[in-house]
Amino acid sequence: MITDRFEELKKRHAGAEEGGGAERKEKQHREGKLSARERIDLLLDEGSFEELDKLVRHRSHNFGMQHNVFDGDGFVTGHGLIHDRQVFVFAQDFTVFGGSLSEANAQKIVKLMDLAMKTGAPIIGLNDSGGARIQEGVVSLAGYADIFLRNTLASGVVPQISAIMGPCAGGAVYSPALTDFVFMVDRTSHMFVTGPDVIKTVTHENVTKEELGGAMTHNATSGVAQFLAANDEDCLQQIRDLLRFLPQNNLDGAPREETKDPEGRADKDLDTLIPSESNKPYDIKDVIRRIVDDGYFLEVAEHFALNIVVGFAHIGGESVGIVANQPAHLAGCLDINSSTKGARFVRFCDAFQIPILTFEDVPGFLPGTAQEFGGIIRHGAKLLYAYAEATVPKITVITRKAYGGAYCVMGSKHLRTDINFAYPTAEIAVMGPEGAVNILYRRELQSAEDPQATRQARIDEYRNRFANPFVAAERGYVDDVIEPHETRGKVIRALRMLANKTDTMPRKKHGNIPL
Ligand code: HXC
Repeated sequence: MITDRFEELKKRHAGAEEGGGAERKEKQHREGKLSARERIDLLLDEGSFEELDKLVRHRSHNFGMQHNVFDGDGFVTGHGLIHDRQVFVFAQDFTVFGGSLSEANAQKIVKLMDLAMKTGAPIIGLNDSGGARIQEGVVSLAGYADIFLRNTLASGVVPQISAIMGPCAGGAVYSPALTDFVFMVDRTSHMFVTGPDVIKTVTHENVTKEELGGAMTHNATSGVAQFLAANDEDCLQQIRDLLRFLPQNNLDGAPREETKDPEGRADKDLDTLIPSESNKPYDIKDVIRRIVDDGYFLEVAEHFALNIVVGFAHIGGESVGIVANQPAHLAGCLDINSSTKGARFVRFCDAFQIPILTFEDVPGFLPGTAQEFGGIIRHGAKLLYAYAEATVPKITVITRKAYGGAYCVMGSKHLRTDINFAYPTAEIAVMGPEGAVNILYRRELQSAEDPQATRQARIDEYRNRFANPFVAAERGYVDDVIEPHETRGKVIRALRMLANKTDTMPRKKHGNIPL
């Protein structure tokens, strides 16, 4: 009877919506976590979710699994809108077999990713899973590998965002790791390749789940995650916010966001914000917020490698990626972590047609055996490579120090940056005056009657001669020396001038970035 089919459909829909049942859902809530469907509702524009594959079931007959079947098989997948723009989303439902990945629900994600690629829209994964479905064995592993392949193929084509909202362990971590941005919810999310028990057995280390793979560990120590959320609601809101700055795909520009913030707004405080004493710290984020639209800067990876600041803002309505040395931390030196953080961000912006605005105040690379043995040469080269390779509009503002190799790296003219500005406080030279004088005048200083006075005189001479923006400006390495309060207007006009920029790379399969 056809009417039975209508009843059957209703029953199956209700079953899928019920998930693992009220008790398991209650447990999820007790642990401070929302259910998969509640998460999707909060993530998407109201009423915009269109579910796919709600009736999919697993096909396993191992361990009596044929008697334990849930419609949807524990993953909720589909498409919807965020800020009126199309996105694809999947959410793992921990109440069904611990959100574990089966052959059937892996195929749901694969279908979603293929659709996202064909239609050019971002993919958002809400992860809360015990990993590969143990009862299914290798077909579940195959499902992971199918997803990893698509993560890789989609990289640089559509933005991919992962939220870790529960456990994410073993090889399962590699799907989020392949995506562009990883969000983690404080206290309720964990990521690790091998858990505390295995570590204890193998290396005899005692470590808690939280210390090993909690949200703060991955935001501050490992750099695996770029966003820390207080709870599920906060996490989903942060994802919505991030999407304001991103294009739908690599061929689409990021959306404009109109602002009432005047284009020529000149913030006079900027003129005194950068200390004239070159060793005095200041917070580069104070500078950034005074320049961007409505003072709003969305920082990415704010807890990792604090000596470099990266993130998104709108300037004159245009989305830009900002990279800035942070003089308030390690004097803004470049080290291993800040180089990889900066490089990855620059590459994301370049892949997705987002202009890059760089603020430079860098005394050089951080000295020390830890850095050299750790491969600062290799890692620093990543940042250099990323800047050189980037063909999007590039604008650099030298606020103060631009010394040595770090001058070359941080969006210098020579790496085909389009517009380079410097403030009058800029110091552009091979090295700082003190270091230079120690090398150039070592003998003279040893034999000087008053070494202190001679040294100071030589330092002043060097500073006047080299540690300023004018030598570089005379050569055109800097296009203009501007007063800080002019920055906003100058950057907006430069972005407008560069709106139709095209630049290319030589034909090749792909480069060989020093990984
Ligand atoms: C099938 C699973 C499961 C899994 C959990 N469940 N993980 N079912 N496959 N991988 C089920 C449980 O049996 C339980 O079912 C329910 O989900 C909730 O699990 P609990 O253990 O009660 O929850 P909790 O105490 O919160 O602990 C969560 C957990 C733990 C830490 C995730 O369940 C766990 O350690 N699971 C196994 C993790 C694991 O080793 N996975 C394989 C990793 S290897 P009932 O019916 O009782 O509610 C991997 C390879 C990927 O993933 C490779 C990619 C290349």
